[in-house]
Amino acid sequence: MDEREEYCTVVTGAAGGIGFAVASRLLAAGERVVAADLDADRLAERFAGREGVVTVACDLAADAGLQALTDAIAGRFVGARGFVHAAGFDMMAPLGMTTPDDMQRLFSIHAVFPVRFMGWMAKMRNHAPDASCVLISSLSAHEGAKGHVAYAAAKGAVEGLLKPAAAELVERGVRLNAVVLGVVETGMSRRWMDMLLPARREELERGYPLGLGRAGDAAEAVCFLLSPASRWITGQTLVCDGGHSL
Ligand SMILES: NC(=O)c1ccc[n+]([C@@H]2O[C@H](COP(=O)([O-])OP(=O)(O)OC[C@H]3O[C@@H](n4cnc5c(N)ncnc54)[C@H](O)[C@@H]3O)[C@@H](O)[C@H]2O)c1
Repeated sequence: MDEREEYCTVVTGAAGGIGFAVASRLLAAGERVVAADLDADRLAERFAGREGVVTVACDLAADAGLQALTDAIAGRFVGARGFVHAAGFDMMAPLGMTTPDDMQRLFSIHAVFPVRFMGWMAKMRNHAPDASCVLISSLSAHEGAKGHVAYAAAKGAVEGLLKPAAAELVERGVRLNAVVLGVVETGMSRRWMDMLLPARREELERGYPLGLGRAGDAAEAVCFLLSPASRWITGQTLVCDGGHSL
């Protein structure tokens, strides 16, 4: 077997909008992909008949989910060449209705899981020598959007862990970066955008000079950070927001 085929790129949230767009690009480029998601039916449907992919249906916020994922990698591949963490969910609630349980659930998937998974990679020392990890943050962690306290805090944690984790990983030749996304049209954003009144929706769109993002726009930025084209970049955040923050 060609050495390149012995490593895989792990994509979480692979049944979702951005994760699937990333996984599709990697498969089209001939990469091996381990695609993980909570939604077993959609995962199976998305990757039916696709070659080069191993699917893992699991809850990555739970110990058993992490175990299922690492077992799938260890059983089929030498280790990971790349890791993209696109699994997650958002939640809107005013301060007074934001519960410790909500905070816990959001932190578990957005910040705790990637620390545990990258910790596994580092401990096992089974990653490719030029491996690259990409996390996904949100403009929510930078803007004062009402109702986003818990989600923004979890994404703030992602950006907070980025540099210390990158500093450890770089000693092993592994890079770690994050993309910070504005609104991208996926299942996650459609859930709240579909509830907007037409005037509010127009206002939202006016705030994005290059238009609202598509899953492919986010995937292109992620794939750049995964690829050797970004070999001299680590510990950084790349803001992709269609000009919104201008
Ligand atoms: N869509 C946006 O506007 C936007 C903006 C900024 C950041 N993001 C971030 O981008 C990432 C991808 O989001 P998306 O827009 O593709 O959303 P999406 O809802 O289309 O996909 C998310 C996927 O994660 C999976 N998932 C959720 N919890 C999980 C768990 N515990 N274990 C395993 N899988 C789980 C879901 O089943 C889903 O398939 C998320 O981290 C999100 O916070 C999205």
